[in-house]
Amino acid sequence: MSTPVTVAVVYYSSTGTIARIAKAIAEDAERAGAQVRLRRAAELAPQAAIDSNPAWAENARATAGIPEVSPDDMVWADAVIFGSPTRYGNVAAQLKQFIDTLGGLWQSGQLADKVYSGFTSSSTAHGGQESTLLALYNT
Ligand SMILES: Cc1cc2nc3c(=O)[nH]c(=O)nc-3n(C[C@H](O)[C@H](O)[C@H](O)COP(=O)(O)O)c2cc1C
Repeated sequence: MSTPVTVAVVYYSSTGTIARIAKAIAEDAERAGAQVRLRRAAELAPQAAIDSNPAWAENARATAGIPEVSPDDMVWADAVIFGSPTRYGNVAAQLKQFIDTLGGLWQSGQLADKVYSGFTSSSTAHGGQESTLLALYNT
């Protein structure tokens, strides 16, 4: 592991909840002495869907300055913390799509020997947080 520890906080967020948690985690990691990259998964939804929800459109505007995640961020990091809102008890497609681009890195062993963790949010108390994290951890 490098010194200082390198941490990538990689998230997807439509309406800003996960974006706020990701920012808080990144700030905490920085305070603890880590070098941190806060990165968002690229949006896949059509512009019309984003525009139909003011909170979604506002979050897209507010987080436009956060770099999109790239495979290099995964290679760079000693620890990767993934964040996704629950989508019917599952991981958001946007984050999953990014993870699905990492097959080559996985196959060549470049994703091994790191620390991985995840966080999620839902709109209801028993809305699938556990199954979302389990789905993420399967990956
Ligand atoms: C397509 C879709 C599916 C969702 N599925 C669930 C669900 O199964 N259970 C739940 O409690 N909330 C569900 N939600 C709500 C979001 O997971 C929740 O509001 C989350 O905190 C939003 O995070 P964000 O603001 O970072 O986008 C769903 C939302 C959308 C748009």
